[in-house]
Amino acid sequence: MGRIDRKVAIVTGGAQGLGEAAVKRLTAEGAQVILSDSNSETGAATASKLGAKYYEHDVRNEDQWEALVTDTWDTFGRLDILVNNAGIFTSCPVDETSLEEFRHVLDINLTGCFLGCKHGVRAMKKNPDGAGGSIINLSSVTGLRGQIGGAAYTSSKGGVRLLTKTVAIENAAHQIRCNSIHPGTMLTPMLQGLLEAAGDQGPAIQARMESQLPLGRAGEARDVGDMVLFLASSESRYITGAEMVVDGGMTVGLPF
Ligand SMILES: NC(=O)c1ccc[n+]([C@@H]2O[C@H](COP(=O)([O-])OP(=O)(O)OC[C@H]3O[C@@H](n4cnc5c(N)ncnc54)[C@H](O)[C@@H]3O)[C@@H](O)[C@H]2O)c1
Repeated sequence: MGRIDRKVAIVTGGAQGLGEAAVKRLTAEGAQVILSDSNSETGAATASKLGAKYYEHDVRNEDQWEALVTDTWDTFGRLDILVNNAGIFTSCPVDETSLEEFRHVLDINLTGCFLGCKHGVRAMKKNPDGAGGSIINLSSVTGLRGQIGGAAYTSSKGGVRLLTKTVAIENAAHQIRCNSIHPGTMLTPMLQGLLEAAGDQGPAIQARMESQLPLGRAGEARDVGDMVLFLASSESRYITGAEMVVDGGMTVGLPF
């Protein structure tokens, strides 16, 4: 018996990294999972590997959100879990960030999450055995504090943090919970790409970064996958509007 048997879940940006880890944990514990991603090659391959259903989807597009939720409803007759995970990272000083770049990051990271909450709540209110569900939004430790180069990224993740609380308080009476996850430094393709871009300096940067983390290592995708599973399951039934920090102690205090 799985921890979320017969539950129906959508995970956005599930092709790789933290989203893939979430899909892996949810399918392993009995959920039927729709893995959505704008990258259809990797998305379809990951879905088939993990026993999920792939759906091509750009989180910025409201028509595509409506189609995704309607198709999920038509196929499974319910929606219990929504993981708004798709996101991009950029780093640029505020005085060098173009308006176009700022809007691009907010469009994917914050507007995409808003559209997911909007259409997810609508579906969860109609669940056949009564309204209810769990929405899990991927913010970041940079949704809790500033970061050099983070004008666009931290704005988007701070927005996700408060959007989560609003969705939680508006929908608590419908038994729809909404929580945010705040990962620290996680070794996913997103971070690996940045380290590779640093060339020969990459390993030294990684070692320095990890030496400053209280638990002594960067996070693995499964560290977030386990938190997604907890928030998706009834084990977290009394938790809503919360900020779940998964950062190896990064934001606990100064390391000296
Ligand atoms: N990796 C970290 O250290 C870290 C830390 C804090 C927060 N996060 C957040 O966690 C989430 C996942 O991060 P990750 O490291 O797994 O990233 P990743 O780059 O490895 O994966 C992101 C996925 O999102 C998809 N995606 C991007 N734009 C999309 C769009 N418009 N529509 C649909 N799908 C789209 C990509 O194709 C990709 O599969 C992001 O929201 C990220 O901001 C990551």
